[in-house]
Amino acid sequence: MNNTAIIKGFSRLKKEQKMEFVASRLENPEKFLEELRSFWHSDPNLQKKLDEFSENTITNYYLPYGIAPNFLINNKQYIVPMVVEESSVVAAAAKSAKFWAERGGFHATVISMVKLGHVYFTFKGDSDLLFSSQSEIQEYLVENTAHITERMRKRGGGIIGIEFSDMTDELEDMFRLKAAFNTVDSMGANFINSCLEEFSNLLPQYLFEKKIITAKEQVQIVMAILSNYTPDCRVKCFVECGISALDELQDSMTGQAFAEKFEQAVKIANTDPHRATTHNKGIFNGIDAVALATGNDFRAIEACAHTYASRDGKYKSLTDVRIYRNKFRYILEIPLAMGTVGGVTRIHPLARRSLEILDNPGVKELMEIAASTGLANNFSAVSSLITTGIQKGHMKMHLKNILNYLNTSQEEKDRLMNHFIDKTVSFADVKQYLENIRSGIS
Ligand code: MEV
Repeated sequence: MNNTAIIKGFSRLKKEQKMEFVASRLENPEKFLEELRSFWHSDPNLQKKLDEFSENTITNYYLPYGIAPNFLINNKQYIVPMVVEESSVVAAAAKSAKFWAERGGFHATVISMVKLGHVYFTFKGDSDLLFSSQSEIQEYLVENTAHITERMRKRGGGIIGIEFSDMTDELEDMFRLKAAFNTVDSMGANFINSCLEEFSNLLPQYLFEKKIITAKEQVQIVMAILSNYTPDCRVKCFVECGISALDELQDSMTGQAFAEKFEQAVKIANTDPHRATTHNKGIFNGIDAVALATGNDFRAIEACAHTYASRDGKYKSLTDVRIYRNKFRYILEIPLAMGTVGGVTRIHPLARRSLEILDNPGVKELMEIAASTGLANNFSAVSSLITTGIQKGHMKMHLKNILNYLNTSQEEKDRLMNHFIDKTVSFADVKQYLENIRSGIS
């Protein structure tokens, strides 16, 4: 077979045919097919639903679904569902949650909830006229998209405002219509895009009718799309305690020393983009895991927050630390476009259950929970980094993966876990000790 040949009509094949097509490329097709089927859900209706979330689906990809208990957020107790493949993430969140639950918990507030979208178009007319007509254009577009916005308006949302900007300094003839939306409890991507596409249909005709342009060709729509950068859909979250309440974190370090070293670590993340990236990744360990568990779009969340982290022209930490009057306060402020209705949040059975576990929060509460989980994970990571280092805890958690990779029996697992209880774990050491067990040396 010519491997560079274009595969035609794949999407039209039946699921079994797709599976066979892929299997035929592998060494052991029968085994592969058996494996694919083993991951199907036993309820065919549910399996069909899962298949239909995406395209060309041949099986389900399992990820661990864990719980981080003891989250106290705004004086309410939560157990937080987290979906993540990295072994130490849930443990890190849980450790931090417990520590802070005993110190007042997480304090979180949603600052604003504005989502944005744009229509980009070239305009070869009198731009002063365009700008001076902005409020009439807004009125017209809002009125003529009322059929799309009706349900959202009933829920308290809709279009907040419309504004033009001139991009011609950088792009020839290019203008932008920016629209702000309130999408209430939904992330609102489909709603925003539907409104924007309707704006694109309406705008050229309206400008022509109102003589803002003299020929329709003077306006060419380039594209209409929501922006995943939503700096005004933002949540702030912090933990705080007296410095002496940090004494218990580390035997070898006083609370004061811990707080000072912690501050240095955050300053490094604010100065060096290399560290900032990893520092922020630790935040997303928690946020993405909650986003996945609740059926939210973690790619959109990450894209947005990374842009936000670069808003001053340099990529920085999303967290900040304040040490004042013998207090330690650790803060995360982050844009988070999430939803508790729409998308797969209510149709993925486990996303729905995750929301139920979280006591069916509205979107603001979910933003507060996700931000708190992110802050919890990051606090755990930075605490380890400035004390024991992360490998000790990390590799302890990873030991089970190594043992599974090495196909150990339960008895071997028990012996190896016991052996490494007080030792640093490395793949080479685990493998060596396993060989010793198997050859009777240990
Ligand atoms: C690992 O998943 C995340 C960390 O690297 C985050 C950090 O360095 O702050 C531990």
